[in-house]
Order: sequence, then structure tokens, then C-alpha cells
Amino acid sequence: MGWVLITGASEGLGREFAQLAAADGHMLILSARRTELLEAVAADLSGRFGVEALVLPADLSVEGEAEKLWARAVAGGREISILVNNAGLAAGGGFADPALWAREYASVMVNVLSATVLMKAAAVEMAQRGQGRILNVASAAAFMPGPGMAVYHATKAYLLSLSEAAAAELAPAGVTVTALCPGATRTDFFRAGGFADETLIQRLPMPTAQSVAAAGWTAMKRGRRITVTGIDNRIFAFLPRLVPRRLVTFVAGQFLRRR
Ligand SMILES: NC(=O)c1ccc[n+]([C@@H]2O[C@H](COP(=O)([O-])OP(=O)(O)OC[C@H]3O[C@@H](n4cnc5c(N)ncnc54)[C@H](OP(=O)(O)O)[C@@H]3O)[C@@H](O)[C@H]2O)c1
Repeated sequence: MGWVLITGASEGLGREFAQLAAADGHMLILSARRTELLEAVAADLSGRFGVEALVLPADLSVEGEAEKLWARAVAGGREISILVNNAGLAAGGGFADPALWAREYASVMVNVLSATVLMKAAAVEMAQRGQGRILNVASAAAFMPGPGMAVYHATKAYLLSLSEAAAAELAPAGVTVTALCPGATRTDFFRAGGFADETLIQRLPMPTAQSVAAAGWTAMKRGRRITVTGIDNRIFAFLPRLVPRRLVTFVAGQFLRRR
């Protein structure tokens, strides 16, 4: 079995993907910024599942870091058989708020640019080998604009679009691309994004990171192109096809508005 490269593996969904990969017997390359957390995940999983686990810290909001991460990951002839583009972040608040820019910028760098760099590098090598799997963690947010989290929704719409096109292109080469589109999930995501507990979306019951990651991992193994987790999110992903876009934007904004 080859290596699985997982970004954002220090906590939340990424840590769950690492566990699923280890349980399947894969060797792990774990990346994020917080080295101590990554080391703890690596030690835990190699101890429990007997797999090799390599920690490669990287700040994917910094230009050039994704290229360096890939180069370190494949150094010495390591073959990445699965790429999990999971690292991601949001900035909660109004688009005209200048205080949000640093985090909005980071979210474009991590969710869009670095994810694309890693996906491109993986696609080139996997297509040459005639096999490989890419799992991109998009979001149900990809299906609609999100006033109150505008940049984040736009980044996930990009990632979904790229995933679908690449999936179609790469299928004949034996490479699958899966976009996982979860709704709000119980992780540190909202706190990290600067949301106080005052938006409607945070009051809804949220599935665990474990269940969402498991759904994504299964979909990736089956080579599915898109998987939206939860019946409520599937409805929200489908409705924008039927309803005027302005109304879709208004409704999404109600879920993200501070109360
Ligand atoms: N939770 C939700 O409601 C939800 C819903 C739909 C989609 N998603 C998506 O799911 C993915 C995982 O999020 P999560 O819910 O597990 O959130 P989380 O618990 O906040 O985890 C985010 C992960 O991304 C990493 N990360 C953040 N900034 C980074 C940077 N600059 N460079 C490298 N890594 C960075 C973090 O590691 P470090 O801080 O150690 O760098 C962490 O491991 C994201 O793409 C998110 O957009 C989440």
C-alpha cells in the first residue's frame, strides 16, 4: 500500500481521516501547522495500527508551502496513493469588515491555492501511474453564496467545481476525485473562524467529525464524485437548482447572520 497524505490532520475531520487510513493499513503523511498535535496523532495511530506515520508541518496559507510539502512528501521515492485535501478555514463576519481580511486571505490560500497545488501535483503523478485517489473536503457551502461567510462559500464552490472537472478528466487514467460536501459538523471550525455561538447554523444539531469523515472515506474508496452528507444538506444542495439565486442567497444569509 502507498502513502496517504492528509492536510489539516492535527484535529477535526483530518484527524478522523488519519484514523480511517491507518485502520485500512495505509502509511500516513500528516500535515498541519501544529507539530505537537500531529506528533501525538502519529504516535497514537502508529501504536494502535502498526502503520508508519510521518509528520510534515506546513503553513498552507503561505505561498510556496504547498509545493514544498509535496516535494518533502514524495522525497526518497515515496508514492502518494491517496491525497486528502482537508485543511481549510473560514472567516465569519461581513465582507466589508477590514479586520477579517487576514483570515479571508488565508482561507483563499489554504482552501483554494494550496489545495489546487497539491491536487495538481498528485494528478500528474497518479495519472502517470494509472491509479490514485484524491479526496477534496469541500462543503455544502459550495452549492450557494453565503453572506456572513462570503469568501469561504466562494472557496468551496471553486473546490467543488475543480473536483468535478478533474474527476471527469482523470477517470480514463484510473484516478478518482471525490468532493466531500458536509454541512455544519462538530469540530473546532466555527470557533476558529471567529463565530460566536450566535448564528442559526450553529444551533442546528451537528453530526460528529467521525461520522462525516467515515462517509467521505467510503465515498472516496468507491470512487464517487460528490458526496453530500445528511438529508438536510442534500436538500440544501439540491434546492438552489429550483429556486431563484437571490432567494437562495437570502436564505443562506439567515443561517449565517449574527443574532
Ligand atoms: N466543521 C464544519 O462545519 C465543516 C463543514 C463543511 C466543511 N468543512 C471543511 O472540513 C475541513 C476540515 O475542517 P474541520 O471542520 O475539521 O475544522 P478544524 O477542526 O478547525 O480543522 C482544520 C484543520 O485545518 C488545518 N489548518 C488550518 N489553517 C491551516 C494552515 N494555514 N495551514 C495548514 N493547515 C491549516 C488545522 O491545523 P493547524 O491549525 O494545526 O494548522 C486543522 O487541522 C475544512 O476544509 C473545512 O472547510 C467543515
